[in-house]
Amino acid sequence: MTDHSELAAKIRGKKSVITVMGLGYVGLPIALEFAAKGFPVCGLDNNKKRVEKLKAGRSYINDIPSSKIKKAVRKANFKATTDESVLGESDAVIICVPTPLRKVKDPDVSYVIKAARSMAKYVKRGQLVILESTTYPGTTRDIMMPLLEKKGLKAGKDFFLAFSPERIDPGNKKYSFVNIPKVVGGVDAKSTELGELLYSRVVGRTIGVSTMETAEVTKLLENTFRIVNIALVNEFSMLCNKLGIDVWEVIKAASTKPFGYMPFYPGPGIGGHCIPADPMYLSWKARKVGFKTKMIDLAAVTNRLVPNYVVERIRSILSNQGRKLSLSRVLVVGVTYKKDVNDLRESPALDIINALEKAGTKVSFTDPYIPSLDLPDIRIKGSRLNAELVRRQDLVLIAADHTGLNYRMIAAKAKCIFDTRAIFEALGIKGKNIIKL
Ligand SMILES: NC(=O)c1ccc[n+]([C@@H]2O[C@H](COP(=O)([O-])OP(=O)(O)OC[C@H]3O[C@@H](n4cnc5c(N)ncnc54)[C@H](O)[C@@H]3O)[C@@H](O)[C@H]2O)c1
Repeated sequence: MTDHSELAAKIRGKKSVITVMGLGYVGLPIALEFAAKGFPVCGLDNNKKRVEKLKAGRSYINDIPSSKIKKAVRKANFKATTDESVLGESDAVIICVPTPLRKVKDPDVSYVIKAARSMAKYVKRGQLVILESTTYPGTTRDIMMPLLEKKGLKAGKDFFLAFSPERIDPGNKKYSFVNIPKVVGGVDAKSTELGELLYSRVVGRTIGVSTMETAEVTKLLENTFRIVNIALVNEFSMLCNKLGIDVWEVIKAASTKPFGYMPFYPGPGIGGHCIPADPMYLSWKARKVGFKTKMIDLAAVTNRLVPNYVVERIRSILSNQGRKLSLSRVLVVGVTYKKDVNDLRESPALDIINALEKAGTKVSFTDPYIPSLDLPDIRIKGSRLNAELVRRQDLVLIAADHTGLNYRMIAAKAKCIFDTRAIFEALGIKGKNIIKL
């Protein structure tokens, strides 16, 4: 049995070498936070371009200023690399690789498997390995653990193993990695304890749970809660439109209840790497044990209909003005999946643009975070937001309500605006040309 007190002492003394594997939206902030606290940190990523940028002190995530990276690189306790042999020199390894969906909407854990295979070559006595990628319950124990144990070392006996879900919300100015409590579930009590000790150096609060599966499914409950409530409010919004009721006013009024209600807002559809994917991981696992997650499945279907609903609303708004969708010009403002991020993954704006282009609409877009859309099915160069651009359009669609755009100018110059985020109302901008979702 390996003594865990040696690693604990190293962590307390900030002497433990920490490697973060996968330097994306999740991994990079973690690596930089440990570096800022004085730990020696290796950032391991197999994307050469990302590593080169980091070495040059340049950020590719808009939440993270380049100055923060420059500082870590200058202090020389943060080293970005593509060389996986750093895994063998590490005391703790935190794995933050992607967990997307396959085309058939099943979990794609191939990145986790690849990362575990790399880790397996270097795993050593006394090391702590933590998986952070969102995944279905059983991934750490059934997929990672056997790979890590191949060389003969045993998890919980020779090395320590845990799962700790990442709960960050990119673009959120109030909550970031450091002030979101960190849930940790280890293969044994010592692994949980070490995981909590490690994270307690950089986050305000840690919560140890009894198993790795509990930690894995905690994250899935959180995101399932979101997908179901978003689907509910999206459906509610469609109903309110039919009834001639302002759903935004209803939500505002309902939010005054001091208990038992939490506001969720309608929008052009769900996107990002988490909400559309994570609940599907759970429903897949449920099917494996003969259980049908009816709520999740219905929520996913409901949300998937929303981009098309937005297109149909655009068609009807234009038609009421005597215009045909196929002969119209539409400017999409904000194409990322939500405001103030540069993440296009699963963005509903892309589905909307696709459907509009298929209908023959002349589509342009503007987004301060996205210079151009160079995707297999959409190739459009972004336009600079200015009065002339807005004036030329038959309709302006607000798909992502990025902070700091000139909404007053848009309201003043646009013939017609379809606002899926109610941003004009939030800013107190009124106009007969503004139609809310
Ligand atoms: N983005 C979010 O808001 C968010 C929030 C909470 C949890 N998560 C979860 O965190 C995980 C990571 O998400 P992300 O958004 O950071 O993804 P990302 O795509 O931004 O970053 C993943 C990084 O891992 C690297 N990578 C992949 N395989 C690798 C390997 N074998 N070795 C080294 N590097 C490798 C990629 O090059 C990439 O830079 C996912 O499971 C996701 O569901 C994401």
